[in-house]
Parts: sequence; C-alpha cells; structure tokens
Amino acid sequence: MSTLFEKHQLRGVSLRNRLMLSPMCQYSAKDGFATDYHLVELGRFALGGFGLVMVEATAVVPEGRITHGDLGLWDDDHIEGLARIAHFLKANGVAAAIQLAHAGPKASEQRPWQGNGPLDEADFARGEENWRVVSAAANPYGPGWLTPTALSLAEMESVKEAFVAAAARAQKAGFDVVEVHCAHGFLLNSFLSAVTNTRTDDYGGDRERRMRFPIEVVQAVRAAWPKEKPLFVRVSAVDGIREGGSIDDTIAFARHLKEIGVDIVDCSSGGIAPRYDFPSSWGYQVPYADAVRREAGIATVAVGLIVDAKQAEAIVSDSRADLVAIGREALLNPNWALHAHDQLKPADELFAAWPPQSGWWLKGRSAQISSFTKTVAKSVAPPSIEIPNGAPK
Ligand SMILES: Cc1cc2nc3c(=O)[nH]c(=O)nc-3n(C[C@H](O)[C@H](O)[C@H](O)COP(=O)(O)O)c2cc1C
Repeated sequence: MSTLFEKHQLRGVSLRNRLMLSPMCQYSAKDGFATDYHLVELGRFALGGFGLVMVEATAVVPEGRITHGDLGLWDDDHIEGLARIAHFLKANGVAAAIQLAHAGPKASEQRPWQGNGPLDEADFARGEENWRVVSAAANPYGPGWLTPTALSLAEMESVKEAFVAAAARAQKAGFDVVEVHCAHGFLLNSFLSAVTNTRTDDYGGDRERRMRFPIEVVQAVRAAWPKEKPLFVRVSAVDGIREGGSIDDTIAFARHLKEIGVDIVDCSSGGIAPRYDFPSSWGYQVPYADAVRREAGIATVAVGLIVDAKQAEAIVSDSRADLVAIGREALLNPNWALHAHDQLKPADELFAAWPPQSGWWLKGRSAQISSFTKTVAKSVAPPSIEIPNGAPK
C-alpha cells in the first residue's frame, strides 16, 4: 500500500497522487509571456507522473518580476500562453497550478546564472534596466541591493487588486489551483517579517499588524477564486536567520489562513536575507510542515531535499504533510514520480503509471530482460540513495 500514490481530493480537484512539482522559475519569458520552452519544460513533469504541477512564480505586475525573464499575468494577453500549458497538463492527468507573486525588495535582479545579484554593467549592456523596487519598508535585501520604496496605502490597494486580477486571468487560463507566494523575502513576506517590515502605520509593528496586508491579499484572492478550486499559500515557515520570524509566527499566520478559506500551507523557508543560519539536511523543512499541520489544523505541503521515494512516502503516511513537493530532484529526473511509483507499488503495477506510449514498451523490455536474468528490470534502476542520519525516516 502506498499513501503517496492514493488519489487525493482538494475541493473539486482530484489529484492522481500526492506529489507536487514545486514552482521553479525558469527566467526564460520575454515581457512576461510563456513560450514553447515553458510548455515543454512543464510538460515533462506531467508525462513524468506528478499529481500536481505548479507553474513558477508569475508576476502580478511588471514591477513584481524578480528578473527580466519572469512569467507574468498582469495583462490579458498573457492568458493564451499559460492556457496552453494548463490545457496540456490537464489533458495528461495532472492538476494545473500557478503561483502568483510579487518580488517586492528582490525585484529587478539578475538571472541566477548571470550573477544572482543586483543588475550590473553586463546586464545594462544587454539592454536590461532597473525598475522601481517596492517593499513593506525602505530596507534593501542586502548590501549593494536597490533600496526599495515603502508602499503607500494606495499602492498596497493596487497590489491587492493586481493579485485579484491575476487570479481571474488564471481562472480564464484554466488553472485548477492558485498559490499566493508569501515566502522567500518577496513582497508579502516583507510585510510578515519584522526584519523587513519596519512600518509605523497599521501594517507594521506587532505580528498581527504585520500579517494584516498578506491576509487582506489572500482573502481578496479567495473571494475572486472559484469556490470549487483550492487555494494554496507558500510561506517561509522560518526566515532562516537568527533574528527572523519563527515557526510560532507561521503557525499564527496559518490559523488566520485557515479561517479565510486557504486549503494548504506550502512550507518553505528562508530568503528574507542573503544568509541562512540554520543547518539543512535531508527533508530539512518537513518539521515545519508537520508543526503547521498539527498546531494550526490545516493541510500542508512538505518541500526541500526530499529525494527518495520511501522518504516521501513516510512523510505522508506518518501524516506529517498532505502533499510532497519535489524541486531540484525533478530537474535531475523529470520522471521522478514514475520511478517513485514503481519503487513503492507492487511489482505487477510496474510501469502502470507511465504514459502508455512508453509504459507498454518498458513492460515488454522488463519481461525480455527477466527472461535471461530472472530479475524484474525497471527502465532505469532508481539510484539507491542512502539517507544519512538526520533524515525524517
Ligand atoms: C530553479 C529553481 C527555481 C525556483 N523558483 C521558485 C519559485 O518560482 N517559487 C517558489 O516558491 N520557489 C521556487 N524555488 C524553490 C523550490 O520550489 C523548492 O522549494 C526548493 O528548490 C527546495 O526544494 P528541492 O530541495 O526539492 O529543490 C525554486 C528553486 C529552483 C531550484
């Protein structure tokens, strides 16, 4: 029996398993538009057996992009390219999800492989320019980064409206799930964290005040997003620096999110500052998903260095999280979910989850190999990964 590969119902959306492709920016859009690259890149994970595929952080306004290459949903013209992706995902049995984001103080930066810092001469020479960066308060992300402008109340209102308008466009594009990005030091996280939120009005100060704007945004998105469709929120469960937000802050936030109709809290961490003070190990963020689930009574996603099928299975069968998100491991092997299926399910279900266009052949190949080796051959022997001490299971 595998809990990971049981069907899972979220409002009106049925997932074929509990594996989610974690949102991963490709920084490969132009003016926010999705291209064939995005379709093929994400399509691999639909054919690769995931239950839900989350499109990368998609900016709700142009200023909310991290880089010049971010996807956007600030214009109706963006709908068509994303609709193609949502259609392909759903046609191949996957729930189609999209993460809506505003980069806040971490906007206007370089693509990771071009420096991963503020734009410099090489970027300007390519024709890329800085834009006005905004945040909860005028605190730069780190030394040398642009100093953001603190959002005025009127600007906060228009950011909220932009999230709502983007959610409406995601609905038109056919997505099943929307996730609001409140993590990684981006705009909504900059309100939540006392490190970045030094406002002195009703949206800064104690924890309740710092949570106010993100809650208003999520509440507005929930009101605009169809009742039968789930709403996720990604959080940095801890800021990851000693002086930053703690798991208690996140549990308090998650209790509010539950009250306003959020279905799942997706528990990441870090990103408020260029450093991360905490140790990381296999499944290092699972304890956060577990704590939020237990203490706030809301479903969670566990993510972060979950690399092995049995490790993922234990997370859901031990009720530490409801979904398991896979990021970099899926870049390494887009068929990760199919291999996990073949490892966890009985031998007579080998290749049953694969698209028949390849599964039929792989079954025959396995029978052919076992006729002379007496072993059941999987298409690729999944790497046997030893989980060192410190892993959840
Ligand atoms: C290439 C890349 C892009 C990412 N982009 C996003 C993003 O758009 N939104 C987000 O919330 N997290 C993003 N992340 C973080 C991942 O979703 C995930 O939480 C993180 O990589 C840890 O999971 P892993 O150890 O399975 O990779 C990104 C990570 C990578 C490697």
